[in-house]
Amino acid sequence: MNEIFETIKKVALEIDEAIKTEDLGYSDSANSSGEDQLKLDVQSDIIIEEAFASVEIVKDLVSEEKEGVLSLHKDGKYTICYDPLDGSSLVDVNLSVGSIFGIYEGELQASNLVASAYVVYGPRIELVIATKESKPKHYRVSKGIFVQVGEIAIDKKGKLNASGGTQQNWSKTHKTFIDSLFAEGYRLRYSGGMVPDLHQILLKGGGLFSYPATTDKPNGKLRQLFEVIPFAFVYEMAGGEAIDDKGNRLMQLIPSHPHDTSPCFFGSLYEITKLKEAYGV
Ligand code: AHG
Ligand code: MN
Ligand code: MN
Repeated sequence: MNEIFETIKKVALEIDEAIKTEDLGYSDSANSSGEDQLKLDVQSDIIIEEAFASVEIVKDLVSEEKEGVLSLHKDGKYTICYDPLDGSSLVDVNLSVGSIFGIYEGELQASNLVASAYVVYGPRIELVIATKESKPKHYRVSKGIFVQVGEIAIDKKGKLNASGGTQQNWSKTHKTFIDSLFAEGYRLRYSGGMVPDLHQILLKGGGLFSYPATTDKPNGKLRQLFEVIPFAFVYEMAGGEAIDDKGNRLMQLIPSHPHDTSPCFFGSLYEITKLKEAYGV
């Protein structure tokens, strides 16, 4: 598995370079979720695909930017499901973006996730790797090298509140719940990039990130295999919780299609307990 983490470090530096120097325009194609692809989405996807092409323990790749499963090595052990550039539409306004990787062994379902990782491209490049062995490890690039700066542990109660989707399309339950957190003193922190938004909550001690079911997206927006499940694992390994709007752990999800989405909530124990009460689940 170490070879996979080393490859992620390598591609992170290449994608960061592309973000800083390449054309920000649209490509002439859309991805499987019907979203227009930026040239940077496509380029980041190619960087990752080319890097894993020589890593023989990787059997298949599943990308946000590709329709199906790409087979790499038939005797490989792991499938890597990844979002090459999450929040790519924020690059042109110079906000932080990220890459997300879920490493699965066997069928593509949450219970088979063995590790996950994400990279934050911000003022600095950071990487978090979660495995079953320890708290998630936090790295930062210094002079071109990833150096571990600590382990991540989330508090039992936080202060930050980040909810996605258009408020006009939230349910009354969700709106009332989010308002109740603000009434308790929670602060709004939402950039529109799930990687920096979830990373901020983890590092600032806790809080809640939601992407609920909305009237326009009844199954939420965020994709299970390469957005929701990898972060659910990081949050659980950091001592937090990650559930859907029925109160089920996101680590129990079984997608029926690689691009399936799910409503999702990530946070500290306190906020997730309050969410369950508010949603009646
Ligand atoms: P992507 O750029 O890979 O399509 O994902 C963007 C995602 C995620 O980063 C963020 O949390 C969410 O879209 C924001 O959506 P809203 O603007 O609907 O809140
Ligand atoms: Mn994404
Ligand atoms: Mn993306």
